[in-house]
Amino acid sequence: QKVYLNGEILNHEDAKISVFDRGFLFGDGVYEVMLQINGSFFYGDEHLARLSKSLLAIHLEFDLASLPDKIETLLKASDLHEKDSLVYIQITRGVAPRKHAFPEKAMPTLMMYAKPFEIPDINQKQASVRIMDDFRWHRCDIKSVSLLANVMANTEITKEGDYEVIFSREGAITEGSHSNIFFVKNNVVYTHPANEHILDGITRQIAIELCKDIGVEVREEAISKKEIANMDEAFLTGTTTQIASVKQIDDHLYYTNDDVGQITKRLQEALSQLK
Ligand code: PDD
Repeated sequence: QKVYLNGEILNHEDAKISVFDRGFLFGDGVYEVMLQINGSFFYGDEHLARLSKSLLAIHLEFDLASLPDKIETLLKASDLHEKDSLVYIQITRGVAPRKHAFPEKAMPTLMMYAKPFEIPDINQKQASVRIMDDFRWHRCDIKSVSLLANVMANTEITKEGDYEVIFSREGAITEGSHSNIFFVKNNVVYTHPANEHILDGITRQIAIELCKDIGVEVREEAISKKEIANMDEAFLTGTTTQIASVKQIDDHLYYTNDDVGQITKRLQEALSQLK
């Protein structure tokens, strides 16, 4: 496994970061996960724009102009040029004596790796999902590497064999630990508004566009925990998840067999045609 670290391509065993890197000490950094599909980045500009937004939100200055070239170098070195792959990009504030406030001067650390990615079959196993209180912070719009709450929640539900946890903040369903959630009721699609309580997923944005393309109304309104049992369909979106049909949320079963809701299915098909 090759890694890009601050201008060098290294074997991952040889890629070393200081113990005083603020990414390690404080989780002081941001990241992106994006795909290369059929030789081009899937909504690459949107992923880079979001990275830029995350950097701005944490006041981390970093020139992204040469990032696409660096990613190309990484993909070539990883033997993934033109192959379907997942690219992980992480920028942390860099090395400085441990003090909470941002240091005046630090060189940001850029680390990236790429691995082969197989696009999930549209008929992927349907997701079963658990609800948990949203015990995360109030800046979920920043794609921060500080993912402890997401990691804790996801570990809890994975133990039970579920695919994803969805968070509930004051009774409103926000998003998953690594995906966004949508609901369908009477042919109207609902998803939490893109505010500080969710990450505005690129796949979420694509799904909203696809709804418009297929003539389905979308309302960016949160669904409450109580309404879940009254919904007709639910689905998750994310770079690694793509569009996954939700079979079950806690004890509420949407389908008893391998059915997939009409709108979920149309969106899955529309998404696969974009690639
Ligand atoms: N996660 N919400 C959260 C909390 C996420 O971490 C992600 C993505 C999403 C979906 O965003 P997008 O559609 O842009 O991938 C929503 C990535 C894939 C990860 O952490 O691995």
